[in-house]
Amino acid sequence: MKEFSFWLITDTHFFKNSLGAWGEGYNEFMSLEQKCFAETETIDRAIIQYLCEDQSADTVLIAGDLSFNGEKESHKEFSKLLGQLKDSGKNVFVVTAGHDCAPHPFCFPGTAEKQPAEGVLFDELLDYYHAFGYDQAIAFNREHLSYVAQLSEGVRLLVLCNDTAQGRALEYDDAFYGWIVEQCRQAQRDGQLMLAMEHYPVIAGQPILQLIGDARQKGARRLIDTLADNGVHLIFTGHMHNQSINLEHSANGAKFYDVCTGSAIGCPAFMRFCTVKDEKTVEIKSVPIPDFEWDTGGRSCTDYMQSVFDAMINTCITGLRDNPAKTLRKLGVKGVDNQMILKLVGKVGKFLNEASCGKMCRVLCVKCDPEIKNLRFLTLASNLARYAFCGDQPYTDQTPEGRTLLRIFKRFNFLSKKLHGSQGETVDLYEMLKHSAGNYGISDYNATLVLE
Ligand SMILES: [Fe+2]
Ligand SMILES: [Fe+2]
Repeated sequence: MKEFSFWLITDTHFFKNSLGAWGEGYNEFMSLEQKCFAETETIDRAIIQYLCEDQSADTVLIAGDLSFNGEKESHKEFSKLLGQLKDSGKNVFVVTAGHDCAPHPFCFPGTAEKQPAEGVLFDELLDYYHAFGYDQAIAFNREHLSYVAQLSEGVRLLVLCNDTAQGRALEYDDAFYGWIVEQCRQAQRDGQLMLAMEHYPVIAGQPILQLIGDARQKGARRLIDTLADNGVHLIFTGHMHNQSINLEHSANGAKFYDVCTGSAIGCPAFMRFCTVKDEKTVEIKSVPIPDFEWDTGGRSCTDYMQSVFDAMINTCITGLRDNPAKTLRKLGVKGVDNQMILKLVGKVGKFLNEASCGKMCRVLCVKCDPEIKNLRFLTLASNLARYAFCGDQPYTDQTPEGRTLLRIFKRFNFLSKKLHGSQGETVDLYEMLKHSAGNYGISDYNATLVLE
C-alpha cells in the first residue's frame, strides 16, 4: 500500500455575513458563544485558500456542521468555496450534520432580537454538496446521507450521518447497522483499509463530556463494537469543538480510536494532517488554522480566538454572581425561579469569583500546594474549562494545580453513586475529573496510532 496523506477540518460553521451579524442582539448572543460568528466567512475563506495552495496532500475531509446554522445563503456560498477547492485539484469529502439543516436559522442584521433566515431541508443538502463525496461514492445510503468512498489505492472512507429527514442526531437502527456491516465486510474482502468519519464523537472527547447527552453518538458502545469488530479501528469526528484523541476497545478487545478535531472557527482552531503509513499505522499531526484578515486588536489570530473563548467562560462565572437567573437561563437550565436557590447560586458565584485557591481549599478542608495558595480560583477554573476543549490538559499529579485539584476531587467522590454517564454507564467521579484535568494518555495533538 502506498503512503497516503489527507487534511481534515471540521465545524466550519460558514455564515454568509451579509445576512447580518452585528448590533445589540448580536453582541448579547456572542457573550455566551465559543465559536466566532461574524468572522466565520473570513476564517473559512482563509482556510480554503490555504488548502488550495497546499501541495502536501490532494484530499480534504470535512466532518460536518458546514454552515453556521443551516442558512440557505451560507450553504450556497460555502459550496461555491468548496468548488474552488476542488478546482485547485483537491478531492473533497464532506458529511453534513445537525447545524446544516437546523429548524430555525437566524441572523442579527443590527436588530435587538434574532431574525429568521431562510434555511434548507435535509433532503436539499445534496443539491449543494453532491460533488463533495456523494457523487464519487462506491456505496450510498440516501436515507442517512452516508457513503463509502475510495480515498486512495488501499484506503476507503466510511462516512456516517446520524440525521435523516425524520430527525437529527438519531441512534442508528438495525437496518442502518446492517448497511454499515455490509460496507465494512466488503472493504475487508477487497483488502482495503477502512477509516470512518462522522460528525458526532463516539468516545467522549474528555471524560467529563460523557455527562453531556449531546456530546456523543447515541448508542456509542454498539457502534464501537460494530466498527472495531469489522475492521474499522479509527474514526474522525467533530461536533463538540474540542481537540482529543482517545482509544477504547470493543467487547472483543479490538482497538477503536476517535480523533476529534476542534472547530475551524473557534478556540482551539486546528486542522489535522493525517498520513496513512501502512495498513496498521496512521500518523496524526495538528496544524493551527492560517491567519485571517480581521481587526483582532493587535492580537494574533490564535490569541484572538482564545479571547472569545475566555470571554464566554468569564461571562458565565461573573454572571452567576451578578445575575444568576439570566445566566442559568442562558446556560439552558430551565425553571429556576426559586428566589432562595437563585440567592444561593449568587452567593456561590460571588465566592467562586473572589476566592483564592488557598481559601477554596480551607473551605473544603483539603491541603493546598503552597505554590498556588494565592492563585485566584477563578483563573484555575477558567483554565480547566478551556483545557477541556483544547486537550493535552496540563494539570496531572506532577503539577501543584493537579495535586491540589485531585484532593478537591476526592472530596466529591461520594457523589459518584448518584452519577451516570449520558448513556447510562457508571461513572467514577474522581477518575473522570482526574483525567479531565490532566491528560495521562495519548497526546490530543500529535500521535502515531497503531490500529491493531
Ligand atoms: Fe459545531
Ligand atoms: Fe455539531
